[in-house]
Amino acid sequence: MSTSRTPVRCSVRVSMSREKPNPDGHRNRRRVRAMTEGATGRVAVVTGGSRGIGRAIAERLAADGHRVVVIDVDAAVEEVARSAGWRGIVADVSDEAAVDGAFASILEQEGRVDVLVNNAALTGVHRPWESVSVADWDELMAVNLRSVFLCSRAAARDMRERRWGRIVNISSVTFALGMRNLVDYVASKGGVVGFTRAFAREVGQDFITVNAVSPGSIQTEADIANFPDQDAIAAAQAEVQALPRRGMPADIAAAVSFLAGDDASFITGQTLGVDGGWIMA
Ligand SMILES: NC(=O)c1ccc[n+]([C@@H]2O[C@H](COP(=O)([O-])OP(=O)(O)OC[C@H]3O[C@@H](n4cnc5c(N)ncnc54)[C@H](O)[C@@H]3O)[C@@H](O)[C@H]2O)c1
Repeated sequence: MSTSRTPVRCSVRVSMSREKPNPDGHRNRRRVRAMTEGATGRVAVVTGGSRGIGRAIAERLAADGHRVVVIDVDAAVEEVARSAGWRGIVADVSDEAAVDGAFASILEQEGRVDVLVNNAALTGVHRPWESVSVADWDELMAVNLRSVFLCSRAAARDMRERRWGRIVNISSVTFALGMRNLVDYVASKGGVVGFTRAFAREVGQDFITVNAVSPGSIQTEADIANFPDQDAIAAAQAEVQALPRRGMPADIAAAVSFLAGDDASFITGQTLGVDGGWIMA
């Protein structure tokens, strides 16, 4: 995987807020006014933001008024970010040096990290347990789980300075279901839930919240490309979900938006299922 890091400068800049830290999350008038105008003054970093759910999350956080930085191993992130007015960084989030370099660059350019969404993952790797090699296992764990630790560590070091931060990790409904032919993927997504709880306990003293969103079956570009018979998928999902429609990337982005905002200041260590009522627990 490529680890080149070519920062793309954001063409649309929002002036940075110099407000005092607001650790208990209560909004003051100035902040409410800033949010109404679409400028929170906060910087949101989304990994795996060049397509699919990550891109929808980046779009939503930008619409919420955040300055958005997307990190992706796919060089397409540069053009995606340029055309959206975000900053794009090409980096492999499983690589410690690449992650630390990316966050150093973000802090240099943007001055702060307020929101981190750990979304990047190796997806769509379906294989029976006997054909999962140790190299396969280690690669998937590095991208899906080690990356969450690396990015959260880098972001929390900055967030604690202002005693405010939001980390949202993307897990998966497959952790609850224990799906066939996904043994490494399911294990990694369970690890994301465990990390979310443990990290929430540690960084809560600095008013950093850490939560997870667990998507159900979401219709992304990759999903449409991999499974052309979308009607069959919709019918199958309607059988197992309470709500008879496909989940969309915007559904996940809306949940992330809530957890990344001030209204979620007393929620931490939780995993929010966004799956049309597939899993109820
Ligand atoms: N689509 C679904 O139905 C679904 C369901 C449950 C959970 N999820 C989770 O939601 C998240 C997004 O899923 P998606 O369907 O949009 O996936 P996707 O495969 O379409 O997008 C993943 C993104 O992550 C990037 N990425 C992969 N490896 C990377 C690395 N080493 N460093 C940096 N970036 C990397 C890819 O380039 C891509 O842009 C993932 O965590 C996935 O596990 C998706």
